[in-house]
Amino acid sequence: MFTNYLIQPTDLTKEELNDLMSLAEKIMKDPVKYQKACEGKIAALLFFEPSTRTRLSFEAAMLRLGGEVIGFSDLSSSSRKKGESLADTLRTVENYSDIVVMRHPKSGSALHASKNIEVPLINAGDGGNQHPTQTLADLLTIKESKGEIANLKVGFCGDLMFGRTVHSLVEALTLYDGVEYVFISPEELKLPEYFKEVVLKKNDLDYEEYDRLEDCIDELDILYMTRVQKERFFNEEDYIRLKDYFILTDEILEEAKEDLVILHPLPRVNEIDVSVDEDPRAWYFRQAKFGMYMRMALLMTMLGVTVDD
Ligand code: NCD
Repeated sequence: MFTNYLIQPTDLTKEELNDLMSLAEKIMKDPVKYQKACEGKIAALLFFEPSTRTRLSFEAAMLRLGGEVIGFSDLSSSSRKKGESLADTLRTVENYSDIVVMRHPKSGSALHASKNIEVPLINAGDGGNQHPTQTLADLLTIKESKGEIANLKVGFCGDLMFGRTVHSLVEALTLYDGVEYVFISPEELKLPEYFKEVVLKKNDLDYEEYDRLEDCIDELDILYMTRVQKERFFNEEDYIRLKDYFILTDEILEEAKEDLVILHPLPRVNEIDVSVDEDPRAWYFRQAKFGMYMRMALLMTMLGVTVDD
């Protein structure tokens, strides 16, 4: 049975991930056919932390399926502000909705939430931990750009310590064959040991680490850029020192493969120069579009809704 709680990508099997991609591709081809799929269903979007793409794409996804949305987009407009516990908020909201999508600043909050709710729950980002629906967008973008998710050298660049989208994508890619991992970050922002020691080693997967993009860009098939996660830093000075450590420019890209695919979960701050947007290898805005279709596929699947072929 498809999971009732999507907390991290490996709550899904490879087959389930592939089914979601196939459904998203069908929806993209014929959106009209799906425009009533979720009629009568309500999604509650509980965003305790800021978001543009994830919240709006879930909202658009539900509306495009003929469903409705309720919710809030910041902490200050919820009763959390008055001191209500997360468990109580969820017990209330499940009476009003068929599925809950939650973003929260605390790592582990999504798992905690799943123990306090009966309706399906989707983690839309829990602190610096995981962000499985961004991974769905990432996987579909890799598939659309490369034809299949296999035998690729994937470079992750930037804040690998706090970047939850990196953690989720690293985990998901372990399900696919022949993926090679390259981690590019300053010492302070390296991928947490857990992902190297448990997630990768457990699957007998090797990785390389660099602190300069120039030293490895020529080998990469995919470059996954990320911003330095300002909100997760304990002190401002460290953030200021590290925030412009990597800036992807046209000049650096001269060394890269012709068919490199550049991804970024967005928002971008400084880490990709805007001139790169014109490069055909830049896929990050298309990636945001694929995210909406994957969220449509996910909502339908978790709500148990089907549309006949
Ligand atoms: C990411 C996030 O919220 O973790 N954004 C997103 O959902 N597309 C990446 C980020 O904020 O840097």
